[in-house]
Amino acid sequence: MIALACDHGGYELKCLIKEHLLKKGFNIKDFGCDSEESVDYPDFAYAAAKAVVSGECEKGILICGTGIGMSIAANKVKGIRCALCSDTYSAHATREHNDSNMLALGARVTGCELAKDIVDAWLSASFIGAQHVRRLEKIRKIESEQ
Ligand code: RB5
Repeated sequence: MIALACDHGGYELKCLIKEHLLKKGFNIKDFGCDSEESVDYPDFAYAAAKAVVSGECEKGILICGTGIGMSIAANKVKGIRCALCSDTYSAHATREHNDSNMLALGARVTGCELAKDIVDAWLSASFIGAQHVRRLEKIRKIESEQ
């Protein structure tokens, strides 16, 4: 199950990404928002991030105007590693090296077709382990010391 969430700035792109993923056979849980009416992105980032850390959803995709607010909010949730990506290299590298469990996209920054490619690159890549395990342990240690 993939969690999807957006604010008003990301609503249109979220609809396109949702359609794209449903066509590919993914199961989606949509945490809103449901229109272009102005909302506060932390509410939606938090709902989707909680679903990822609880295990209800395996991964999550967050979309706002820049992707920045959503990624900052999601990364406040313990256990979330949310990567804001605007290129496909970063998208697969962050799965391989950071084992990111959420992807953030900026709908006002990244075009629709590129956004779909970024989502595909991110979802199809896997964590490669090795020295990156140690680095993730260090991130967890930082988190647990807060
Ligand atoms: C909303 O106008 C905008 O601030 C939001 O979508 C996002 O870009 C925040 O980081």
